[in-house]
Order: sequence, then structure tokens, then C-alpha cells
Amino acid sequence: MSLAPFRFADLRQESDGRDELLAGLLAERAMIPPKYFYDDLGSRLFAAICCLPEYALTRSEARLFAEHGSDIARATGTGRLMVDLGAGDCGKAAGLFPLLDPAGYVALDISADFLRDALERLRRRFPALPMAGVAIDFTRSLDLPESLLTPAGAPRLWFYPGSSIGNFAPDAAREFLARIARACIDAPGGALLIGVDLVKDKAVLDAAYDDALGVTAAFNLNVLNVVNRLLPADFDVADWRHVAFFDAAASRIEMHLEARREVTVRLDKLTRQFAAGARIHTEDSYKWTAAGFAALLNEAGFAKLKQWQDADGGFALFLAELV
Ligand code: AVI
Repeated sequence: MSLAPFRFADLRQESDGRDELLAGLLAERAMIPPKYFYDDLGSRLFAAICCLPEYALTRSEARLFAEHGSDIARATGTGRLMVDLGAGDCGKAAGLFPLLDPAGYVALDISADFLRDALERLRRRFPALPMAGVAIDFTRSLDLPESLLTPAGAPRLWFYPGSSIGNFAPDAAREFLARIARACIDAPGGALLIGVDLVKDKAVLDAAYDDALGVTAAFNLNVLNVVNRLLPADFDVADWRHVAFFDAAASRIEMHLEARREVTVRLDKLTRQFAAGARIHTEDSYKWTAAGFAALLNEAGFAKLKQWQDADGGFALFLAELV
């Protein structure tokens, strides 16, 4: 069996990560950016979160693709180069290949080994599809070498499912979407297919981020293991507990790690003391109204929008184009 071309590039910048982590952990309001969740174990824990009964977002989105797939494919057209932002196990994109019939697939993710393994498996399922993998922090830059964006000339479909846009604060989300819009200007014919979780009942959202099995707690706590390796630092996971809640006024889930007791942590060459009850902010997950998100896409430069929503109004998919 001959396989279509495959390239893999690691464009991550490790040293920047250390500075960023140190600055966050030494700040008065200590924080760890959520992209550090996704080491190999973190990516697997996130995949497990997506199967939890409380975390309906993934299933809602999959149902929308199943119910409206043909309509979505008519709207996007086929034969595009699909650029998957935060591909993870590549499962969401792969599920759409039969419908969207892409000309090529470029998967971007911060977790290099996890992505490489996922693409190895995917190539065996779709041997004729040109593929590339890029380990990159795409929240910093969307500058991708043209040599990876093959076939050249195929109109691009930027694919950003799973409501990952919710992990940006609104201003940063607008800026990130504007960057994608600019990429659609640079390579004409581009479009963005994006999924966004919508505001719903607080109890439902609280449970989605604090599940009964403790998988989300493990996902949150695992970031301390990542920090221990990267800085290095000496966090003891047993000293911390998972805290997550929906703040309706800010329309976001906040996730924190809370010190169970007073702890002193070595952070590279420095130390920091955390009082019992002190928190490290690890993630925000904004929940949008469909109208609010449409306005955000417009502000980012997308003039033409098409939208699909599930029956209970819990999740929306948008196809956004410039004209
Ligand atoms: C990746 N992102 C969209 C997830 C979310 O829902 O914000 C990450 C996550 N954090 C806790 N559970 C899932």
C-alpha cells in the first residue's frame, strides 16, 4: 500500500514555556495557562472527559455533525485543505472526512507525541490523503510553513471544534478569530468551521467540570506534574484539590487548584509559599450565547455566517467566511 505524503514539524519553543510558567506561578494571582494540561497523560484524560456523562459538549457537537453533515458539507464544499486547530486524537476531523472529502489534512496540536501517534493511526485509515502534523502553540502564532500546507492552492477550511475558543477571554478570542480571518484573506477561499458551547443551567455546567468520577479533577491536577517536569518544580499533587464552578455574571467556568494546607513549592531556582486555601487559576471556559458569538465572528472580520444548533440550544456550529 503506498501512502500519500506525510510531514511532521515540531515548532514549539520550550524555553518560552518556562518563562511563561514561572511568571504565572509567581504572580500575585497565581495561574498556569491551560495549554499546559496537554502532555500525553493530559491529552488522554481530556479524551476521557469527552466520554463523561456530565460533559455533554462533545456528544452535542457530534450529534450536530451527524444530523446536519450533508448540509454542512454543501456549505463548505469538498476538496478543501482541512487545518485542524488542536487536533488531539484527530477523531473529530476524521469523522468528517467521508462528508467533506478533503484534499489534504493538517493537524495542529501542542502535544507532539500524542499527535504523531494519532496521525500514524489515521494514515493507515486514509492512506491516500496527504497529511501533515505540526506540534505548535497556535495560540501564539498561526504562521505555518507553506511546505506543510499541501496540496497548495486548495481552499482552506480552518476547523476549530470542541468549543476550545471558550478557553480564550472574549478579547483574546476576537483577536484569535481575527488572525484566522486574516489567514483567509492571505489564502483566498478560506473558511472557518467552529463549534461553541452555549450558556446553560449552572448546575449542568458545574457538573460538566466537576464530574463524579473525578476525571476532570485528575486532568486539572496533572498540570502540576507537567509544571514539575518543565520548570522543574516540586509540586505534590496530594497537597492540592480541584475546584471548578460556573460564574454566571462572567459567563465562564473557572478552574482552580486549591492548596489543602500551607505548602512551599520550589519553582526552578525560586520558592513560593501558598497558604492553605490559596488558589492557582488553571482555566476559564467561556460559554457564549449564539447571538453573542455571531457578533464576535463579525467583529473578527467574518461577514458571512451559517449556523447549526442542537435541539436544546446547548451547542452551536458556525461556518464563517469573509464574503
Ligand atoms: C478544551 N476545552 C474546550 C475544554 C473545555 O471544556 O474548556 C477543556 C476542559 N477543561 C475541563 N474539562 C474540559
